[in-house]
Amino acid sequence: MTTKTHVLALDQGTTSSRAIVFDQQGGIVARAQHEFEQLFPRPGWVEHNPEAIWRSQLRAAREALDLADLSPGDIAGVGITNQRETTLIWDRATGEPIANAIVWQDRRTADLCDRLRNAGFADTFQQKTGLVLDAYFSGTKINWLLEHVDGARERAQRGELAFGTVDTWLIWKLTVGRVHITDATNASRTLLYNIRTGQWDDELLEHLSIPRELLPDVRPSSEVYGETDPELLGTAVPIAGVAGDQQAALFGQMCMTPGMAKNTYGTGCFMLLNTGNKPRTSKHNLLTTIAWQLGDEVEYALEGSIFIGGAVVQWLRDGLHMIDSSSEIEKLAASVDDNGGVYLVPAFAGLGAPHWDPYARGTLVGLTRGTTAGHIARAALEAIAFQTADVLEAMHADAGMDITELRVDGGAAANDLLMQFQADVLRVPTVRPKVTETTAAGAAYLAGLATGVWTDRKQIAAQWQVDRRFEPTMSDDRVHKLRERWLEAVKRSRGWEP
Ligand code: G3P
Repeated sequence: MTTKTHVLALDQGTTSSRAIVFDQQGGIVARAQHEFEQLFPRPGWVEHNPEAIWRSQLRAAREALDLADLSPGDIAGVGITNQRETTLIWDRATGEPIANAIVWQDRRTADLCDRLRNAGFADTFQQKTGLVLDAYFSGTKINWLLEHVDGARERAQRGELAFGTVDTWLIWKLTVGRVHITDATNASRTLLYNIRTGQWDDELLEHLSIPRELLPDVRPSSEVYGETDPELLGTAVPIAGVAGDQQAALFGQMCMTPGMAKNTYGTGCFMLLNTGNKPRTSKHNLLTTIAWQLGDEVEYALEGSIFIGGAVVQWLRDGLHMIDSSSEIEKLAASVDDNGGVYLVPAFAGLGAPHWDPYARGTLVGLTRGTTAGHIARAALEAIAFQTADVLEAMHADAGMDITELRVDGGAAANDLLMQFQADVLRVPTVRPKVTETTAAGAAYLAGLATGVWTDRKQIAAQWQVDRRFEPTMSDDRVHKLRERWLEAVKRSRGWEP
């Protein structure tokens, strides 16, 4: 057992970079967070400046460590968790990115996905990667960069460039270019990684015209990969855990046995169900993904990815200026008894699971002269819950196992009105834990397991505690009517973008 008792988790999300120091009891000792700029160069495109990601993350890490007021030697390891799929390519010699990062929400490669589907490759991709052919994943984004950045393809073929998702980029920066790796969970979101064999797949690389030389080594989610450069955090600290943010949240929610599920209400909403040590192929448009790899042991999950969750609240705040802060939405939504027949389908980035329509766009229906801001706020919150219900239904059908409760986390899980409505439309209790920073906790646990802060999963599972459980109370008939109207609204949002 190490004498070092704390772990630093870096949680690099879509809109902000966070850093949290955890103690051995799983308690939060200090945290810091910095937002960074979202770039929307064209409709449907979303980019991040890679240096802005790095600077905001390093600043948050340093601040959290200062606030924790520990000596650098008290930190056993760093765990990294990240927005997944977002695609970066940089020069191996200079570390210079060749372009901005293409963010997971970016739809610019929808036509390439169509072409691959029309060429009959959808089944091969699904069988090997567990994913659907959608612009969401990294593979077509890498292809786009190689096609559109001058000289990129030739440089990639000569082995001069490196690809990475955000975990890989942060590790490269933290080790000043010494380590080029990713973990199995992040690899499983690229469309290039065979989740059955645990290898980058030559056939898929060929379909996407991606040279193997670009790719990082794939490693388990919990082990020491290298050390941070001593200049960066005051001392060299082992980097000891990596997982995509949704898989980290599944781990942090202690959903460690088959049948356990969590939903994270962040920018998007991501529901993951632990399905054990065999990948289960979805017949209902869900994803099969790697939950984590510990040593040689790989565990899998079914995932429903919803592109816009909490972001719909941000849109009401920043786009429509209907509220000044996100937390005000609960009061505004509670100012009306029900949605007044208003439905908001937040297909701002197309629709993800289970509908998968990159050409769907946001739709507001059912407006009358009596519609108030309260109804729209309510429709926005309900949309988050309805989308989650669509996913849970698909999950239930795919997994053939009863999901008896849904563990919830992420910013919007603090919203009681939403959590109650969620339990109502799911007809399954929603359970909010005391520590809702489950994404960062998951990364911390993965790093702490590799560095001896915790001995095994049983020990950490004992640290999870319930804050509140929301039981379903709405009548079946009412739920049925609401969901029927919602699905009608979804239909109207589809195929809008030509
Ligand atoms: O797949 C995208 C997901 O990883 C993004 O998560 O928390 O940044 O919205 P978040």
